[in-house]
Amino acid sequence: MAPSPQGQKVLVPVFAKTLTRLLCPPLRQCRPLKSNAWLEAKSVNPNHMSRKIFLSENEIPEYWYNVMADMPSKPLPPLHPGTKEPIGPEALAPLFPMKLIEQEVSAEKWISIPDEVRDIYTVWRPTPLFRAKGLEKALDSPAKIYYKYEGVSPSGSHKPNTAVAQVYYNKQEGVRKITTETGAGQWGSALSFACSLFDIECEVYMVKLSYNQKPYRKIMMNTWGAQVYPSPSDRTEAGKKILDADPGSPGSLGIAISEAIEMAVKDESTKYSLGSVLNHVLLHQTIVGQEAIKQMEKAGDFPDLVIAPFGGGSNFAGLSFPFLRHKLENGKNVRCIASEPASCPKLTRGVFRYDFGDTVGMTPLLPMYTLGHNFVPAPIHAGGLRYHGAGVVVSQLLKDKLIEAEAHDQLAAFDAGVLFAKTEGIIPAPEATHAIASVVKHVDQCKREGSKKTILFNLCGHGNFDMKAYQDYFEGKLVRHELTDEEISSSLAELNTPEIA
Ligand SMILES: Cc1ncc(COP(=O)(O)O)c(C=O)c1O
Repeated sequence: MAPSPQGQKVLVPVFAKTLTRLLCPPLRQCRPLKSNAWLEAKSVNPNHMSRKIFLSENEIPEYWYNVMADMPSKPLPPLHPGTKEPIGPEALAPLFPMKLIEQEVSAEKWISIPDEVRDIYTVWRPTPLFRAKGLEKALDSPAKIYYKYEGVSPSGSHKPNTAVAQVYYNKQEGVRKITTETGAGQWGSALSFACSLFDIECEVYMVKLSYNQKPYRKIMMNTWGAQVYPSPSDRTEAGKKILDADPGSPGSLGIAISEAIEMAVKDESTKYSLGSVLNHVLLHQTIVGQEAIKQMEKAGDFPDLVIAPFGGGSNFAGLSFPFLRHKLENGKNVRCIASEPASCPKLTRGVFRYDFGDTVGMTPLLPMYTLGHNFVPAPIHAGGLRYHGAGVVVSQLLKDKLIEAEAHDQLAAFDAGVLFAKTEGIIPAPEATHAIASVVKHVDQCKREGSKKTILFNLCGHGNFDMKAYQDYFEGKLVRHELTDEEISSSLAELNTPEIA
C-alpha cells in the first residue's frame, strides 16, 4: 500500500537521520542539513550565477536578420563566369528554389521564419547559453567567458538551422532530390536529417579525407536515408578530371561542390544545397545570435568580443551579425572575430578578388577573400574549415574593417579544445576548437592589459564523431602546419578571375 502523506511526513526525518548516520560515522562532527539549506546558501552567495541560460520555445525568433540592410557598402554583384558581366538572380534558378533566391538578394532587414520551420526548430531550439565557469577558472581569467552551444541539434551542430529552412522551400517547389557536399560531415548530416523530415532524396559528396576519417558520419547520413559518396568520385566529370590529375587527391570542399552542382544541373527535379557561404545560408543562422542576445540580457551582460570559427562564414555570421547590428545601428562597441585555421587562411592571408565558389569553376564569380579556387588545403581534421574562399557578405564586412579575423595552428586549436573538454565537459568539434584558441589568446591579452572583458563564442558543434582527430592529437601525429608565402602566392598566381580595385 502507498504510504499516506501523513506517513511520509513521519518517515522523512527518520530516513534523513539514518542517512546522516550512515554517511557521517563520527556523528558529532556532522549535522543534518536543514531543508533547502544548499539552495539558501546559493541565493546568498553573491558569486553565484547560473551556469546555463535558457529561453522558452516561444522565445525562438520569428524573423531572420539580414545584415545586408545595414551594411554601409553593399557587396559587389556576382559575375557570369564566361562574359564576366553582372548576373541577375534568375541565373541561380537551375540550382535553388525561387524563395531562397529571393532571400539571397533581399535587402529587407527582417525576413519572416515560416511557422513550419519554427515548429521544427523547437526540436532543439532555443539552444543553451553557458557561462564557461570551468574554463574561466582553469585560465584564471579576468574575462567573463560565455558560449552558445549549437551541438544540441540532432546532427550535432548549427547546420540544421539552415538545412531545415532550405529543404522546406525546396519541398514547397516540388523538388524530388537535393545534392550537396560535406567537409566535416556535419553539413551532410544536417541536410540528410532535414530531407528525411520532408521526404526528399538526398545525395551527399563527402570530401574523401573526412569520409575515411569519420566512417560513422556516413552511417548517420545513411540512417536518415541519404546516399553518400567519397569525393572526388568517378560519378561526375568534375570528379574524374581531378582524379586524372591526382588519383590520390584527399578532396576538398571546392571539389565536392563541383560534383554536387554537376549532378543537380543534370536533372530537372534535382536541386543543389550549400551549407555555408551564400547570403541565405548566413541569414538562416542569425537565429543563433538573436537568441544569444536575449540570453546575454538575462545574464545582465553584453559581449565585448564575439568569436566564432570560420569555414565559409555561416556559424560566424549566425552568432555575430545580430550583435553587429547594434554596432551598425547605434555604434555599440563590439568586436566580431572570425577564427580560421593557419593552414587555410583566406581571411588573414588571402586576397579580396572575384573567384569561383567551387574548384572546377561552375559557380558564378563572387567577390570574396580567397586563396584561389585551385587551392587544396592540408589534410587537417577541421574538415569544415578546409575551404578556399569566404562568403560575400563576410568578405565585404572584413574589407570595410567592421569585423576582424585571426588564424590558429591546428595544434594550438586542439590544445585549447582538450582544455575545454576537461574543464567544461563537452568535446568540441575540431572546427570549434579554433574559436576556443582565440578565446585563450584574448584571455591572455586581458591579463597582460589588466582589463576585464566579456567574451562570447560559438561552440558550433560537438566532436563526438571526431575521435580520430583527438586520437591523432594524443598520439602526437598532428603537425604544426602553416603555409609559406610561396605556397599562397603560387596558388593565387593561377587565378585569372577579375581583380577588384
Ligand atoms: C561544426 C562546424 N563548425 C564550423 C564549420 C564551418 O562552416 P561555417 O563557416 O559555415 O560555419 C563547419 C562546416 O562544416 C562545421 O561542421
